[in-house]
Amino acid sequence: MAVRRLTVFIYLPGEPIAVPAGIFTHDDEMAIGSFAYGRRYLERPDALPVDAVALPLGARPREVVTNGGLYGAFRDASPDYWGRMVIASEKRTVPEALSELDFLLATNATRGGNLDFRRSPDDPEPILSPPHFDQLPKVIEAARKIESHEPVDPHLLQILRQGTSMGGARPKCVVESDDALWIAKFPAKGDTLGIPRIEHATMTLARLCGIAVPETRLVTAGGTDVFLIRRFDRGKCAGGWLRRGFLSALSLMGWDERDRLKWDYVAIADAMRRHTPASDLRELYRRMLFNILVRNTDDHPRNHGFLVRDDGSLQLSPAYDVLPSPTQPGVGTDFRLAMSVGERGREATIENARSRAPRFGLSSDEAEGLVTSLQIAVSGWREHFRECGVPERECDILAPSFHRPERASDPDPFPV
Ligand SMILES: Nc1ncnc2c1ncn2[C@@H]1O[C@H](COP(=O)(O)OP(=O)(O)O)[C@@H](O)[C@H]1O
Ligand SMILES: [Mg+2]
Repeated sequence: MAVRRLTVFIYLPGEPIAVPAGIFTHDDEMAIGSFAYGRRYLERPDALPVDAVALPLGARPREVVTNGGLYGAFRDASPDYWGRMVIASEKRTVPEALSELDFLLATNATRGGNLDFRRSPDDPEPILSPPHFDQLPKVIEAARKIESHEPVDPHLLQILRQGTSMGGARPKCVVESDDALWIAKFPAKGDTLGIPRIEHATMTLARLCGIAVPETRLVTAGGTDVFLIRRFDRGKCAGGWLRRGFLSALSLMGWDERDRLKWDYVAIADAMRRHTPASDLRELYRRMLFNILVRNTDDHPRNHGFLVRDDGSLQLSPAYDVLPSPTQPGVGTDFRLAMSVGERGREATIENARSRAPRFGLSSDEAEGLVTSLQIAVSGWREHFRECGVPERECDILAPSFHRPERASDPDPFPV
């Protein structure tokens, strides 16, 4: 059956129970989707759009043909590589055998953002029981087996499934601890570096650079390091969990995941001027500089996000998934970010970032001040990583990532 329908629910501000907002019709073969708000929902004085950019209230909804026929906010609420592997494993099949709607419906109550997808408007609330922090060893054991394509005990798989709704490719699970939800990120099979510890060290370095980051922790569970990052789209309340809407930068821009040539920080800044406070543009610039300085080349538009405020406007979310992408020995130190930075395209140099500073609302003096303060803070990376327990050998491997020439044509000031 190629064409299927499901009901889109939304958790409105202050409400731990979702209400139906409309019907999503999806043609899996043609990869086309369309959404129509329900009349009763539109009559609510507190109605919020289910996708602030693609589906404003009151406008005639348009069909969506990007990203497999999913509106941006729907795609952001759907799992990626890792979540799809876990869901397929539970259904004893391969991810390719499942459709976009199967993944939307299979995702559980720990999914990102404030939406939910159910077969009918009368379907009950999904049960929210993400594993507790204490269950991490079991969760990690299940994750390891899935990565190795080994059979997983159904009981273990069930625990992992309850927390597997978030996007991203790396193995992870949402866990509850201290009255908050956290994304626990594990080492992946084949990692040659201790990624959880490096991610923790980089995120805390970003905080020292003045970037807004969620609380992060590095813990040991099941004999391995685990990186915990507190979810910024959930808050506990007496009746359950409150949720905030989430849109990735990919969704803000209406880009397709395959449209890599369009991905551009300046275009995001231009769009943000219509949706977010002016200070968020400067914060985006700061994050772009930081990505250059730490060689985070995985800064694609789904690794930047926006939260929906109670009045329906957007704000840049705290930063996530920021860590150096290790250089290949002997490959040199020139590199590109995943999105265009300035007049020299994706070239990851400070000079390139300077070229478009005014588009982020910064005078050249302000941009210069920001560059200097970030360069100073990042120059202390090694000591900071050491304090976070990153082994000396791994710091050596990462060192070339932190040595940035000002311009691509300049000799590397710290040749290795
Ligand atoms: N602290 C957070 N709170 C809420 N959602 C988050 C948070 N961190 C990441 N996310 C969401 O989860 C997705 C996957 O997390 P990410 O760290 O990017 O994993 P991966 O390294 O596998 O790409 C992100 O694309 C984002 O949508
Ligand atoms: Mg990511």
